[in-house]
Amino acid sequence: MLILGLESSCDETAAALVTGDRQVLAHRLLGQEAAHAPFGGVVPEIAARAHVEALAPLVEAALADAGVRLGDVDAVAATAGPGLIGGVMVGLVTGKALAHAAGKPLIAVNHLEGHALSPRLSDPDLHFPYLLLLVSGGHCQLLLVEGVGRYRRWATTIDDAAGEAFDKTAKLLGLGFPGGPAVERAAAAGDASGVPLPRPLFRSPEPHFSFAGLKAAVARVVGQYPPEDIAASFQQAVIDCLVDRTRLALQGHGRPTALVVAGGVAANGAVRAALQALAESHGLRFVAPPLWLCTDNAAMIAWAGAERFAAGLTDPLDVPARPRWPLDPAAEAVRGAGVKA
Ligand code: KG4
Ligand code: ZN
Repeated sequence: MLILGLESSCDETAAALVTGDRQVLAHRLLGQEAAHAPFGGVVPEIAARAHVEALAPLVEAALADAGVRLGDVDAVAATAGPGLIGGVMVGLVTGKALAHAAGKPLIAVNHLEGHALSPRLSDPDLHFPYLLLLVSGGHCQLLLVEGVGRYRRWATTIDDAAGEAFDKTAKLLGLGFPGGPAVERAAAAGDASGVPLPRPLFRSPEPHFSFAGLKAAVARVVGQYPPEDIAASFQQAVIDCLVDRTRLALQGHGRPTALVVAGGVAANGAVRAALQALAESHGLRFVAPPLWLCTDNAAMIAWAGAERFAAGLTDPLDVPARPRWPLDPAAEAVRGAGVKA
């Protein structure tokens, strides 16, 4: 089985070819950092235009890398949401056109499902059900992954996502964009207990996350402490919250086969180490995809497409783009979580 995957929901344009037996034959990615850097964040209109220019050449390059032709693919998988609507539409329309031209099925992939299943691309021994901490720029959720298309959300953020807090902290410290890797680098040289910062919802009996108060606290201490100490203390506060909330989820919900972390923030070495220690203290396997598979990419979309295709799940060519698309439609909306789906 050979799947072409397309990703364009935020500021990475990407195309990949992945097989049903987990071979990544090609994965091409073009970031837009330079275009958005002057604004300190992703500008949706700039992103959509950049996806239009980048996507078709990336698809051609990926096909060439893999040494295959469009007609060789069994299906085309494209991110259909959630994300910035302009970018999602560019990728989804391109996917529809390629599927139609090749006479192959289309698979409309939820970007979050791409992250959620990505650890199964890198680890053939990861079986359902697993507890997933999905931490990215737009999301911070704890989910039980029961199977393809079967997700139970236990916790989400009531305000900001963890990656958003990293990006904001980087901006406040003048470390540039994107912020996560810059904060991690600065933190390596700092004192993680040097700056008193809050840990919102720490030890709370309610299962959710909150990062807005931490972000605001960072804004108040900028200029009063060395930037590397602020970065290290901020990163430690995020880690303490992630570990505390994940520990709570592990207490109440049966026996998952593994603790898994995915999404851009999962590329952070200190975050991975803390979650690994938590998993070990519970006698659980810990699984985290390689760094390149944590941040946005098209291999995870192709792989989610492969899993859906194997389950007989394809979509009609008039499937809509969905700027908001929760993985668990039955999960109740939580207080304050109006901005991010
Ligand atoms: O999954 P992703 O690439 O895009 C979304 O779907 O949001 O996640 C991007 C987020 C950004 O907020 C970025 O700052 C964060 O992941 N990130 C990191 C690291 N690398 C990326 N955060 C902390 N440490 C990192 N090394
Ligand atoms: Zn993502």
